[in-house]
Amino acid sequence: MQDFTDKLAVITGGASGVGRSLAFALGAEGARVLIADVDEAGLKATEAALIERNIDARSQHCDVSTQDSLNALAATAFDELGGAHLVFANAGISAGEAGNLWEFSPHDWQWTFNVNFWGVIHSINAFMPRLAGQGEDSHLVVTGSGNGAFIVYPDQPVYTATKAAIQAVTEALHIQTRNQQSPVQVHALFPGPHIVETGIFDSDRVRPDEFSKPEGTPETGINSAEDLRKVMEFMGHKLVTTHPDEVAQTAIQGLRDNQFWIAPMNPGTQEKIRARFDSILNRSELPIPTLG
Ligand SMILES: NC(=O)c1ccc[n+]([C@@H]2O[C@H](COP(=O)([O-])OP(=O)(O)OC[C@H]3O[C@@H](n4cnc5c(N)ncnc54)[C@H](O)[C@@H]3O)[C@@H](O)[C@H]2O)c1
Repeated sequence: MQDFTDKLAVITGGASGVGRSLAFALGAEGARVLIADVDEAGLKATEAALIERNIDARSQHCDVSTQDSLNALAATAFDELGGAHLVFANAGISAGEAGNLWEFSPHDWQWTFNVNFWGVIHSINAFMPRLAGQGEDSHLVVTGSGNGAFIVYPDQPVYTATKAAIQAVTEALHIQTRNQQSPVQVHALFPGPHIVETGIFDSDRVRPDEFSKPEGTPETGINSAEDLRKVMEFMGHKLVTTHPDEVAQTAIQGLRDNQFWIAPMNPGTQEKIRARFDSILNRSELPIPTLG
């Protein structure tokens, strides 16, 4: 897609971080935006800030863990706003799991899969038929993570498992749509090239009560990029971060270039991917990937 003028972009997780930056960047390109999130206050604040920037913005409360919520969002986009040409399945959380995998709370597994995995499936189910039915050039962008799609970091296996699963789904969807010469292009967006300073470290702010952490569950103590910076410094590593606005610009360029892999990567990540695949191909011991 080259011209974003007047195109409607629907963005889940649009109240904060990467989704919020996408809304501003696409708005600056002349797109209309429909942002969706469970964080009602954040959603309203972002909508107001977008409108103040003269961006044609609208918001809708949406919980991506339910199909009904995504169907309602698609109905707004197509039945009220004339159709969408860009859909970002972007909402995601990190449950902050810590300790031994076999001791994790089932609530962490369930909540993370509900949002990161089912959220993407519900988005695809709600939007794909409508996007394809328009018969016009349109794009579905799934926000994945190198943590799961490319590398298995041992510290966050719940998050990693969700991102590995949606990578499989995104690739299969891309190949299916390409084989059918569908007008819908599917893209895999990987925020980076470094850890992106967003609200994801404090996902607990939107954790539903039904998935609360049982008392005594080990915690990481990392609730912000600043906390992570301190932990990494303690381990002798420097934390380098990326601003979400940079991710949004990368995404727009990736759409212009029609890339499937919208995946800015730092040299350390590339090395870890190579080491992992060498280990697979050589059947040698797995390397231990570390952050940084
Ligand atoms: N920050 C990073 O370094 C990084 C790296 C790789 C991938 N990602 C991915 O980027 C995406 C965006 O995350 P972010 O880093 O901007 O974090 P963020 O916390 O700033 O934004 C995520 C948004 O999703 C919303 N959300 C959470 N649960 C929801 C639900 N059930 N329904 C609807 N919205 C919900 C949150 O309220 C929040 O506004 C996620 O998919 C995340 O996994 C982030």
